Parts: sequence; C-alpha cells; structure tokens
Amino acid sequence: MSQLREGEPSTPDPLAPDRPSPDPLALAELARAVAQEAADVLLASHGQAAVVQVKSSPTDVVTQLDRAAEQLIRDRLLAARPADAILGEEGGQTGHGSVRWIVDPLDGTVNYLYGLPDWAVSIAAEVDGEVVAGVVCVPLQRAMFTATLGGGAFLESAWQDRRQRLACNADVPLASALVATGFGYESARRSTQGQVVASVLPRVRDIRRTGSAANDLCSVATGHVDAYYEQGVHEWDIAAGGLIAREAGAMMGGLAGEPPGEAMTIAAHPALFGELHDLLAGLDAGRMPG
Ligand code: IPD
Repeated sequence: MSQLREGEPSTPDPLAPDRPSPDPLALAELARAVAQEAADVLLASHGQAAVVQVKSSPTDVVTQLDRAAEQLIRDRLLAARPADAILGEEGGQTGHGSVRWIVDPLDGTVNYLYGLPDWAVSIAAEVDGEVVAGVVCVPLQRAMFTATLGGGAFLESAWQDRRQRLACNADVPLASALVATGFGYESARRSTQGQVVASVLPRVRDIRRTGSAANDLCSVATGHVDAYYEQGVHEWDIAAGGLIAREAGAMMGGLAGEPPGEAMTIAAHPALFGELHDLLAGLDAGRMPG
C-alpha cells in the first residue's frame, strides 16, 4: 500500500471498486415522497398566496409558497442525502455532489396565484450530468407522474386509483397536431413568441397554453397534446417533465441538434418532432429577443 505524504494529491486507486451509482428507482421514490409533501403544503394555501418578489418582469412573481415549498424540498432531500447538490428555481445552486436535484417547487406560479388548477411540483435527479429520475406532482389533477431513465414513464392517478404506463401519441402529422406552448415573462421575448405562434397556428390543429411547462411535457407523455415547444424555459421547468416525455417515447431537443434549453425546447414523437422542428427553424423561433 502506498503511503500518502502530507500535501501530496491523492490519485484514484485503479483497483478500488467503483462507488456504486445511486439507484434511479430509489431517487425517484425519494423525489415522489418529497414532491407529495410539498404538494400538500401548497394545496393547504391554494388561492391564498401573496406575491413577495418579482423577478425578470413585474409579472414574473414569487409567492411565499414557492419559497416555503422549495425550502421543504431542500430540507427533506438533504436530510436523506446530505452530500447532494441542488438547483432550485428560487434558491439557485447549492452543493457539489455527483447527484444533483433540479427542483421547481411550484411550476405554474401564476395559475396557483389565480386559483387555477394547472400547477405542479417538479423534481428531477441528475447523476453525473444525466437526468435519471423525474417526478411531476399535479395535485389538483390528483396525478403523480414518474420516470426513470430506461425504466419507462408512469402516471399514478388517485381519481382512477391506478398506475398506468405512458406512451405519447405516434403518427400525428403536423397539420393534425395539438401543440402546447408557453410564453416567457419579458415583453421583448413575448413579442417574438407571439410572432412565432401566429405562424404556427395556421399549420397545426390548435394551440394549448396551460401555464406550466412541466404539465405540458407530462401532457405530451399522456397524449393529451401531441407536441410541446417553448423558447426561454429553464432547467427546472423541463428536467423532470422532459424525462417523463422521453420515457413515454417522445424526442426532446432544441433547434439544429442543440440540446433542449433556453434557446428552444421541443418535445414530440420523433416524426412530428422533425416536422415541428423544421417549421420552428424556418421561423427562426430560437432568435434572441431584441
Ligand atoms: C413558467 C411556466 C410557464 C412557462 C414559463 C415558465 P413558473 O414557470 O412553466 O408555463 O411558459 O416559461 O417560466 O414561473 O410558473 O415556475
């Protein structure tokens, strides 16, 4: 055995066994329990939240419940796995572990503020940079969406008291597609998004705007919409819902082979993804507002 002198950098021992990667199912189970607890806190105050901060624009609001839910999620995740990193919409990035949780404690904040039903708690677990587990809890649909990388996507519905494997809609041409999208909070970005959607609308069946990107991606997974696209989303909006959509058979990406992200996020069954991608690319839908 080699002796390490003080100050000498340690090098990995090639004979040492690899640290086992955490089990995606165990990460999903933890995320599920924590999301349910946060959802219960949010439900108890639904319709009573007050705005405590504005972010990118006066309509980009934070309520005290966004903060309380994120704090609860952080506390519970770190109690179970103290070495992990967390990226949260409200609290930013903390920690450095190889497991990173990506958390939107309340996706659809404006819906929540107005007492509308489409809002969700979204928690994803990334291991070494890859999302391996994702959970989206939509309390007013009594729905818990879960996915693990390679393990499929599932919906547990308390209405129907059943767990169902999800598959997105296949073989839908663009002209017949029901397409979900969303709009950011800054007026310059909205102006671009408005121009793009005006050109998309005549070429598809119709447009839906729920006000929650996580919900939209889960709707791709269930087949309640055929496709989703949006410019300006953040990692926390799409990490969990994105895995759920992909595990249900959707392709997810940005424009011109870019990964999904702020410039553009598109999700749909592969053939429809290609058609929608080409339409959006032709409209220069990923252009920066200005
Ligand atoms: C927003 C929602 C909305 C989308 C916006 C997001 P938030 O997240 O997901 O549907 O259009 O781009 O910022 O602010 O409610 O967490």
